[in-house]
Amino acid sequence: MTKEPLTIALPKGRLFEQVQDFFSQKGLNFQFEKRKLVSFDDEGLLKIYLVKNSDLPAYVNSGIAGLGICGDDVVYESGLDFYKIRTFNFGGTRLSMAALENRDEKSDQKELTIATSYTAMTRDYFHSKGIPVNIIRLNGSVELAPSLGLAPYIVDLVETGSTLKANGLEVIQDLMTIKVRMISNRAYFKLNYDRIQNLLERIGENKS
Ligand code: PRP
Repeated sequence: MTKEPLTIALPKGRLFEQVQDFFSQKGLNFQFEKRKLVSFDDEGLLKIYLVKNSDLPAYVNSGIAGLGICGDDVVYESGLDFYKIRTFNFGGTRLSMAALENRDEKSDQKELTIATSYTAMTRDYFHSKGIPVNIIRLNGSVELAPSLGLAPYIVDLVETGSTLKANGLEVIQDLMTIKVRMISNRAYFKLNYDRIQNLLERIGENKS
């Protein structure tokens, strides 16, 4: 009897290659033909959808993809609820607050104005500390905001720190650690429990 493959959404961008390499080390090989957004691994165990990072929760929440791989930031900002069924050792980053290296610290304001794409995490972090914040939502190139005068502070993901450095910024504080997880739609997890367990045993890494 041939089984339907498990469905999984993977994020486009820099995490994709790390996921692809990791799966390949476990003998699960897949490629995407040029411009194609759907593929299968060589054994036909997985049907893989390539989606924009921030759209990934919508696909898993709907059950179109039963599984997904993304950072904690993506799950948190979606406000949706998933099982986190694996934590990976690759792709981790920090969510950090940064400002211009050469800023006049005397001009730091009481209410922080922060440009970020991570509005929910930023708001919740500062509110939990009782610090009022004015958040300006941006979808990208957040590192430009301080030098152009849009906001003195940014909150963004920092991996190597090279993007901050290239834009004359420095980390003021780290807000949280971001890990890469495999997530599952709750109903899909229950319905496909055995097959998902087999996949998890095959890929190893840390139980969530
Ligand atoms: C992220 C983040 C920073 C950069 C940090 O962007 O938003 O811009 O990586 O990495 P670094 O510390 O190694 O320089 P990403 O490249 O993932 O794309 P994005 O602009 O779509 O967020």
